[in-house]
Amino acid sequence: MRGKLVVGNWKMNGGLEANARLLRSLVERWKGASGRAMAVCVPFPYLAQCRDVLQKGAIAWGAQDASEHASGAYTGEVSAAMLRDFGCGFAIVGHSERRQLHDETDAQVARKAQRVLEAGIVPIVCVGETLEQRESGHTDAVVSRQIDAVLDALRGDAARSVVAYEPVWAIGTGRTASPEQAQDVHALLRSRLARVGAEHIAVLYGGSVKAGNAQKLFAMPDIDGGLVGGASLDADEFLAIAHA
Ligand code: PGA
Repeated sequence: MRGKLVVGNWKMNGGLEANARLLRSLVERWKGASGRAMAVCVPFPYLAQCRDVLQKGAIAWGAQDASEHASGAYTGEVSAAMLRDFGCGFAIVGHSERRQLHDETDAQVARKAQRVLEAGIVPIVCVGETLEQRESGHTDAVVSRQIDAVLDALRGDAARSVVAYEPVWAIGTGRTASPEQAQDVHALLRSRLARVGAEHIAVLYGGSVKAGNAQKLFAMPDIDGGLVGGASLDADEFLAIAHA
């Protein structure tokens, strides 16, 4: 049976003091449970803080990106091996904000996922369509193209990854995909994953997940949890989502 996973994506938010409060609250109140896991993906400078606070507990931590290169003259980039030094369990790759604001291509996202896996870290591969693509009926083609680019590179290793479906129009907008809309895309992703024998991995939903809508989303047969942005910065809200 696939377990449930809830991952907080802090994006470019936080500070040492605020993080300490948030992490302490999560550690005190999240006891974990079999088949339920929690992680936070934080800005690079705070990975050491996460390692210090979380290493003995039930909450995993990770990064929001990783370089497509292993090492070398890439000023400003952070390699997957460096993330491993800080105990990262996860690294998000291909988030729509990186695809849109940094012009990341499907091929780059695939290379990032490869580097992350080589470092022994679980990549959380994000896919999702824009509002324009949805309204013109291209959702299935877009997410298939995005996931296939990664699966063609990873092949059997894809079974050690996590996928997140994040419709771009639902991210940070307060507008969530309906459970049925999300389920349709999750079922499609699961069928693409089956091509490489990875149909049993966790497929998360992301995009304005809140305590108030998590339960209905997570009840869908192919939704295994959430990638949570804004609501992961509030301990009460994030814990309520994790318990949903
Ligand atoms: P949101 O972000 O929950 O704030 O919509 C989700 C994400 O971008 O991962």
